[in-house]
Amino acid sequence: MSSQKDYIQKNKERFVEELFTLLRIPSISADSAYKGDVMKAAEVVAESLKSAGAEKVEICPTPGYPIVYAEKIVDPSLPTVLIYGHYDVQPPDPLELWTTKPFEPVIRKTDKHPDGAIFARGACDDKGQMFMHVKALEVMNATNTLACNVKFMIEGEEEVGSENLAWFVDRNVEKLNADVILISDTGMLANDVPSITTGLRGLSYVEVKVTGPNRDLHSGLYGGAVANPINVLNKMIASLQDDNNHITIPHFYEDVQELSEAEREAMSKAPFSLENYKQALDLSDVYGELGYSTPERASIRPTLDVNGIWGGYMGEGAKTVIPSWAKAKISMRLVPHQDPDKITKLFQEHFEKIAPSAVKVEVTPHHGGLPYVSPTDDPGYRAASKAMEESFGKTPVPVRSGGSIPIVALFEQKLGLKSILMGFGLDSDAIHSPNEHYGLFNYYKGIETIPLFFKHFRENN
Ligand code: BES
Ligand code: MN
Ligand code: MN
Repeated sequence: MSSQKDYIQKNKERFVEELFTLLRIPSISADSAYKGDVMKAAEVVAESLKSAGAEKVEICPTPGYPIVYAEKIVDPSLPTVLIYGHYDVQPPDPLELWTTKPFEPVIRKTDKHPDGAIFARGACDDKGQMFMHVKALEVMNATNTLACNVKFMIEGEEEVGSENLAWFVDRNVEKLNADVILISDTGMLANDVPSITTGLRGLSYVEVKVTGPNRDLHSGLYGGAVANPINVLNKMIASLQDDNNHITIPHFYEDVQELSEAEREAMSKAPFSLENYKQALDLSDVYGELGYSTPERASIRPTLDVNGIWGGYMGEGAKTVIPSWAKAKISMRLVPHQDPDKITKLFQEHFEKIAPSAVKVEVTPHHGGLPYVSPTDDPGYRAASKAMEESFGKTPVPVRSGGSIPIVALFEQKLGLKSILMGFGLDSDAIHSPNEHYGLFNYYKGIETIPLFFKHFRENN
């Protein structure tokens, strides 16, 4: 609909300015020092939904950060699209690696984004992508083209496990009644290779502590005679993967769904260049589970990674010491049909079992989440595919992603709704990293594509 395109064209500068206002709020959900800012972000989102034309806008309290709910029901007999997104962001550190400040958005050009990209924490994950939906509502409203009923559910705790969104969903099944969930919180292959995410990995996250002597010891007087917790922890972690980078925890792969040869063959058709991949990361080689390609290792196979490891002396110079303890944070990405609780339990049992008697081991589970796969032959996928085809001029490729949005599997369980993961970010947008950015092309393309999803979803239903 060209009236929509005209409206976007006329208002494009303002659309960026308004996103900047949201990006300036450091809504870091992991750090309680930013509580006021997270709350402020919820208010700004609610206000923006009101001005975009939502009829009912509520900031719904939860035991944690609130859910911003909004709706516009044009006609109860039309299908309803439920939009999900998040207004919280990851901590920006390490700050010294940012070229410009994380909460002072600026536009700069990059190789991948010759038209410019917005640099700020949350620009892509997920404020920029979530805000496209708010602006798309404005576009549809202003041009009188809202083709379906719409509901919004924007949370502030995605980056810390979405615990209270689960709480909210449990209590609001009726209110959230819809025909499909539409989410832009993932990526696509390239700006000229549109794709739709058809799977997410699950997650099991644990923290481990290995304790040795009751105090730090002189490494000359005691070294060699007592267990060094850092040495032991490293040995234990190293043993969790064998020479083929296969995870050694007994029963770990028990529930893993192996893809058929035909499915793997189809997957290998998606455009991917190993050379570009290595080059973008300054790597001389890739590394991973024997027998699987790089895209497979990063999507359909489970992983075990240390996210952080610490203990002992980390200051300047040398201190000769046997530390009393060592700790690590370990994440396992899961695939269908692995269960996060079961995997956490298997990890715990195994980790306690392999510990030498000279140390004490504690395993503390953090948040987890179920993996998710979406169909490619239902009305939601078809609407997204047609929408992208119309806006990009190319049929999007279905791609399973390696990332996690744990709440998506819960939506299916609790609301009986499939989620369509129509994301517009690029892997190179540095989400969770310093210099996160989001292409202006991607931002506008998203705002243009979302109304087309509504149009095609209505036609399909
Ligand atoms: N939006 C991301 C997940 C994502 C990004 C999926 C790109 C696919 C492609 C989300 O905000 C996120 O970071 N999720 C966390 C999990 C959460 C429990 C902290 C993740 O994947 O690490
Ligand atoms: Mn996200
Ligand atoms: Mn994230």
